[in-house]
Amino acid sequence: MSSKSTNPLELGRSLSVPNVQELAQSDQISERYFRPEVDVAPVASIDEDELPVIDLMKLLNPELIDKDELFRLGLACKEWGFFQLINHGIPEEVIEKTKDDIKKFFKLPLKEKEAIKQLPGHIEGYGQIFVHSEEQKLDWADVLILNIQPSQNRDMRFWPTNPTTFRDTLDTYAIKIGKVVDCLYGLMAEDLGVDPQDMLNIFRDQMQSVRINYYPPCKQAKKVLGLSPHSDGIALTVLLQANDVNGLQIKKNDKWLLVKSKPNALIINIGDMMEILTNGKYKSIEHRAIINMEEERLSIATFHLPSIDVLLRPFPELVNSDGELYKTISAKEYTREYFAGKLNGKNALESMKLRK
Ligand code: OGA
Ligand code: NI
Repeated sequence: MSSKSTNPLELGRSLSVPNVQELAQSDQISERYFRPEVDVAPVASIDEDELPVIDLMKLLNPELIDKDELFRLGLACKEWGFFQLINHGIPEEVIEKTKDDIKKFFKLPLKEKEAIKQLPGHIEGYGQIFVHSEEQKLDWADVLILNIQPSQNRDMRFWPTNPTTFRDTLDTYAIKIGKVVDCLYGLMAEDLGVDPQDMLNIFRDQMQSVRINYYPPCKQAKKVLGLSPHSDGIALTVLLQANDVNGLQIKKNDKWLLVKSKPNALIINIGDMMEILTNGKYKSIEHRAIINMEEERLSIATFHLPSIDVLLRPFPELVNSDGELYKTISAKEYTREYFAGKLNGKNALESMKLRK
């Protein structure tokens, strides 16, 4: 691992674990997957709050422009840290193809998937991350992690070649997602009253990676977790559910709230780095994934962060007389800290707070 690396995925490592898709075939479930804490925080009832829905067309199309929508976007980022984006302009064919190719990849026999298995000491590839000890509890999921931007960080050894369209599909999808994210940065700057040029500078050479999550069904679904509670250690995440099965829960008022995704909506969330950059105005919220007894679930999370040498410090317009809330840290150091921990709520971000 070279300290000169500009590749955020070279800043972490993880122990290798069994393939969960295979384990799901058997009746025996190892203790390592049982999570007594699953029910510690109560689950919100089905008709409690609904995640805000933001219409990108109402924010961008001069004929439809709706000033209230910008206010709603700001509110969603400040109070929820999560929203669903509709009318995002990504063609349906692109979304459908992405979902399709992801599903096809996970249907391949294990041996074929393992051709792009993570290598020891790496987190790119097919496997699992955030595993640091043999005793640690494990998530009920397999993941495929890939660097997308900058393109020199792509390690094609880990990009599936089956289905044959996978690489092009992912490339097209990620470029379009990147454009949506750039729009959102501009709108967020407007909402926050931040100089748009400063926002642009922070994200000029932005990095992008994906984590494709495969959550097999589990006969004891209520006892396991697909993804441990965490906040995302980047600036902005875009999540697409690849097979219309819900399972993402976000923490709101100390309850877990299930996100009911609209078909083809993108689920956007604020990450830790954006919370730091906005001096706590926008919130990086804890979330987790639960498991279904009958159905598998697939999702693709696309992560965006500033180039790794960028220093994370709040926009000056957002620092009031209380001063800065977080230590100044480079994107690289934050990523290193984040990967060094076990996924555990907002631990990494908490450790950056100047006053506790
Ligand atoms: C993630 C994530 C949630 C999901 O990959 O960081 O939070 O529903 N995924 O898969
Ligand atoms: Ni996440």
